[in-house]
Amino acid sequence: MKVSIIGTGYVGLVTGACLAEVGHEVICVDVDPRKVDMINSAEAPIHERGLPELLKRNSGRRLSATTNLAAAVADTEITFIAVGTPAANGKIDLKYVEAAAAEIGRAIRDKAGYTTVVVKSTVVPGTTIGVVQRAIERASGKKAGVDFGLGMNPEFLTEGTAVADFTFPDRLVLGGIDARTHDVLRELYQSFDDSVPRIETNPTTAEMIKYASNAVLATMISFSNEIARLCSAVGGVDAIDVMRGVHQAGYFTIRHGGERLTAPICSFLEPGCGFGGSCLPKDVTALVGQGRENGLSLDLLQSVLRINGAQPDEMMRLMGLHYQSLRDVPVAVLGIAFKPDTDDIRESPAFPLIRRLKEQGATLTAYDPIARPSEHPDLAGVRLADSLREAVAGAKIVLLVTRWSEFSALDGLLGELGTQPLVVDGRRVLNPGSFSQYEGIGRA
Ligand code: NAD
Ligand code: UGA
Repeated sequence: MKVSIIGTGYVGLVTGACLAEVGHEVICVDVDPRKVDMINSAEAPIHERGLPELLKRNSGRRLSATTNLAAAVADTEITFIAVGTPAANGKIDLKYVEAAAAEIGRAIRDKAGYTTVVVKSTVVPGTTIGVVQRAIERASGKKAGVDFGLGMNPEFLTEGTAVADFTFPDRLVLGGIDARTHDVLRELYQSFDDSVPRIETNPTTAEMIKYASNAVLATMISFSNEIARLCSAVGGVDAIDVMRGVHQAGYFTIRHGGERLTAPICSFLEPGCGFGGSCLPKDVTALVGQGRENGLSLDLLQSVLRINGAQPDEMMRLMGLHYQSLRDVPVAVLGIAFKPDTDDIRESPAFPLIRRLKEQGATLTAYDPIARPSEHPDLAGVRLADSLREAVAGAKIVLLVTRWSEFSALDGLLGELGTQPLVVDGRRVLNPGSFSQYEGIGRA
């Protein structure tokens, strides 16, 4: 099929490259000419495993990029909206989605024949048949369900494993306003493995499935962090041991033949310094905001955000057990990306922590194997190290914020350097016994 994708970020580009790989002809559209040029030169604008190879195979053949939205829409049968949906003022900001929908509307005004528009961005329930449909109809003078199809197909990929997640999805959620839209979506995904569950539904249900899926992950993280806080307060109990015990319940670990298989969700039951990223924080905020607009107080999800917002304070408390003042104390922050295997720094837990450390007058060095956002305002006055060794040499406190595998070598490295800083493990990945001074979230 001929596919256009509006918005060529983490989701739009991965979607485009993967659809090209399975044989579709894809045009990626972005307002950012730098990204467009890079894609056309088969260069990945983001750090994502497998993406460079996909671009090399498909750019200039089945995959191209442009800033000309109208031409891309005119030339394709199906158009995805994959622009950003940030949170602003405690609710979702739909300005990019609305602008893209209006532009698509103008592009199909004079287009002969039927086209299908599909929202892939994460949007609050009701957006596709509300804001998006209205914007396209107003700008095109055409009618959804008559002149164009309208669908909602949320994306469940995780940064770091995005290409694999898209290629081998755990489910396909296909929301459409009518049978014809569903036919188009079915055709688009026909090469995907038949065993992948396909949930065919209306757009609003598809939107809610996406939010509920992210909200449950955020809830589990905050739940674990609340239990972890209690463990620390009670003493004599480590949240890691507690959660390992919880994981063994039949709900989380199933017996399969002679094996015991632990569900991946268990990782969200590990305590840590909090969730970040471009999705969980903003999506939970968007749901709370939508609740408020509907006269509902979503108390559980508000607590999820509140607990998460307090995790940097928990890291500060652990430092406070050893240091009365952090003024001029050299502190190394390990990890700037919001999670390992990505260069994405949006809403990274590193930033609220760095802000607190600056307020307390610490002398800061930060290190990330991939993310080097030297222009970020929170990093003003922070020395960016080029290696783990450089970051921790001379540090009196080392804070592990992102679960990069490289950081598991910290004990050996400190041994080589002959230093014994306080290590505060925000991800509980280090062996406490390997350090002379160690604190970890949820540890007695
Ligand atoms: P992103 O910020 O990386 O990319 C969005 C892109 O859209 C940018 O390149 C921007 O320049 C472009 N854009 C904005 N307005 C445009 C317009 N009118 N025309 C053309 N291009 C335009 O965002 P992302 O991380 O890819 O997320 C996109 C959506 O997908 C969000 O709703 C997000 O919640 C959702 N989502 C993201 C992930 C993820 O892991 N990043 C996973 C699932 C779903
Ligand atoms: C998340 C979901 O995992 C995806 O299913 C979803 O498609 C995506 O949001 C989205 O809607 O955009 P992502 O944000 O890329 O994906 O990464 P996660 O691995 O979920 O990490 C999110 C945050 O939670 C990170 O800050 C991470 O450190 C934290 N986290 C993650 C934990 O604290 N514990 C974990 O076990 C996993």
